Amino acid sequence: PLESALLRRLRFSAATAAFQVEGARRADGRDRSIWDDFVETPDRVRDGSTAEPGPDSYHRFYEDVALLAGLGVDQYRFSISWVRVLADGAPNLRGIAYYDRLVDALLGAGVTPAPTLYHWDLPSALEAEGGWLNRATAEHFAEYVEVVAAALGDRVRHWYTINEPVSTTLQGYAIGELAPGRTLLFDSLPTVHHQLLAHGLAVPILRAHGAERIGIVNNHTQVLPASADPADQQAAYLYDLIHNRVFADPVLLGRYPDLEPLGVTMPVHDGDLALISAPCEVYGVNYYNPTTVAACEGPVPFEVVPTPGAPTTGFGPLWPIVPEALTAFLVDAHERYGAALPPIAIAENGASFPEPAHTEERLDDDARISYLRGHVAAVREAIRAGVRVDEYTVWSLLDNFEWAEGFTQRFGLVHVDMDTGRRTPKASYSWYRALIEEARA
Ligand code: BGC
Repeated sequence: PLESALLRRLRFSAATAAFQVEGARRADGRDRSIWDDFVETPDRVRDGSTAEPGPDSYHRFYEDVALLAGLGVDQYRFSISWVRVLADGAPNLRGIAYYDRLVDALLGAGVTPAPTLYHWDLPSALEAEGGWLNRATAEHFAEYVEVVAAALGDRVRHWYTINEPVSTTLQGYAIGELAPGRTLLFDSLPTVHHQLLAHGLAVPILRAHGAERIGIVNNHTQVLPASADPADQQAAYLYDLIHNRVFADPVLLGRYPDLEPLGVTMPVHDGDLALISAPCEVYGVNYYNPTTVAACEGPVPFEVVPTPGAPTTGFGPLWPIVPEALTAFLVDAHERYGAALPPIAIAENGASFPEPAHTEERLDDDARISYLRGHVAAVREAIRAGVRVDEYTVWSLLDNFEWAEGFTQRFGLVHVDMDTGRRTPKASYSWYRALIEEARA
């Protein structure tokens, strides 16, 4: 009973993102994003796939809604595509109508819509002007948010602003594994500030349209030094700075950590940090794995290495499975940020595995169940230790387009045939439904 009492405080959710599930890249006047450019560039995506047809949620969203209702989740975290809502900078009514239908279907099924406003699909036209390196992109984001909030704010009260700015900065602009595929290393760091500013500019707009629960979503990882060697300790310190603290401190404390050791300064204007740190009801955390870091010679002073002794997901040696590291991260955050930390929403947590060769194994995803069970227990331990966590979200409701991995990595509670869109719940779907039922009992 104590176990379920701790879990009873959580709202349960499942997540997807527009570019990963919608398909239909040319439907109803949708504009181009950096992900359209990326998937159409040879050799960028492992299996050469272009996110289509895939789950095709643009046409099959009503099936997703039925699956969510069947799971019994409180809410659905999906994302809204900037390039469906605005085309050539002007509102595109047919694109907006899609989210209208989705929101109405969710509400009709008793599932709270909790959309993310930006999950990586930047309009290509803005990238041509520097993308997130350009401060004006944050202002354009605010214009887009105004259009979305005016259209949906009468029914949507829960909003996530920006998803994982760290991934955009490090993988998108620093090393080029994700769109827009730039390789600027530390010169990418202005993109941190402009994404956080975009979040800050969005908050008052959402409030003016009746929002009740707003948060940014940061990806966080527990950073572990590879050894007790001071060089590895220093490398881990720097990695923690650039992956965790540079994104959390401005939002929660209203200041950047000391970035001297990285030799960078942020392009902060007067008033920016007040906007970025305006109080929010929730702090979104996406958590997948800890990161073991070693010192190295080269253009950057650290490298990510395998975590000794840990099993791994389908992503291989750099995606270790260590649920206790989630508890440790949450407890550390609680201690570091204290009262400045609002309740935490685990806005993504999950594991991928490649498609098994045998059809019958596709639905028996014991490895995913064991990953999720371990991490829900890790959240429970953090709550027991006094950390305020009020939401747990599985990534993902559906198998979907896993960015540079294409369709080769599957995270879904529901199996998707990427050619026909056919959806079949996996064993993990039934497991999650039972967990939610138990927590409510
Ligand atoms: C992203 C998702 C992604 C997942 C698994 C997160 O970084 O928000 O879009 O599919 O991790 O890689």
